[in-house]
Amino acid sequence: HTRKRLVMGNWKMHGSLAANAALLAGLAAGAARAGDTQLAVCVPFPYLAQAQAALAGTPVSWGAQDVSVHAQGAYTGEVAAAMLADFGCAWALCGHSERRAMHGESSALVAAKAASALAAGLTPVVCVGETLADRDAGQVECVIGDQLDPVLALGAEALARMVIAYEPVWAIGTGRTATPEQAQAVHAFIRAALTRHGAGQTRILYGGSVKAANAASLFAQPDIDGALVGGASLVADEFLDSAAAAA
Ligand code: G3H
Repeated sequence: HTRKRLVMGNWKMHGSLAANAALLAGLAAGAARAGDTQLAVCVPFPYLAQAQAALAGTPVSWGAQDVSVHAQGAYTGEVAAAMLADFGCAWALCGHSERRAMHGESSALVAAKAASALAAGLTPVVCVGETLADRDAGQVECVIGDQLDPVLALGAEALARMVIAYEPVWAIGTGRTATPEQAQAVHAFIRAALTRHGAGQTRILYGGSVKAANAASLFAQPDIDGALVGGASLVADEFLDSAAAAA
């Protein structure tokens, strides 16, 4: 596998100062188990400073779960990419399916958020994925293609500096993971689109009920370059074991 593997936790809206302290200490202490696999966590905004203090100088990088499309201004409740950079963030999730579904984020907005992250020196992790209804209707490639189009339009240079995460909505938090073959088929479709746009080496993560027990079979697929891990990222050993499966 030529692309550096990346296993990223997405804590979603979980945590507290006390719980995070234990989790972050566990990640810092066990990071070596991941070998050459890059480790990262995306934490709620209020805990960025805590993550920075606990992870600075360790192999684990940190980031945010969303970013504003705007650089600054009268946007109450929004957080700008430069603010994330101020707290040492390396990453910003863009267009997680929960934001698309619950906050009406369009694919055009998601691409603009990715551009705003790039402008501040962050690596956007652009999430795409179909619902079960899309899959049952045979619309997977059509839906993923539509989600990708405005991102692809950012061009090869931008694409080379981002990460794509394929997260089938029906596999998120359900315990029902895509089979390695189902995931690989979509990853290959995304890879082909990236290749046509001059960015065939952009990393593509799989997300959706990844845990230590199923990580190795997913990572064995040629176009799966790592994972975006939700629930299992809240337990240090489970997250690190998932990452170790990629090594
Ligand atoms: O961002 C992470 C994904 O939504 C996957 O969440 O691992 O809890 O299924 P999950």
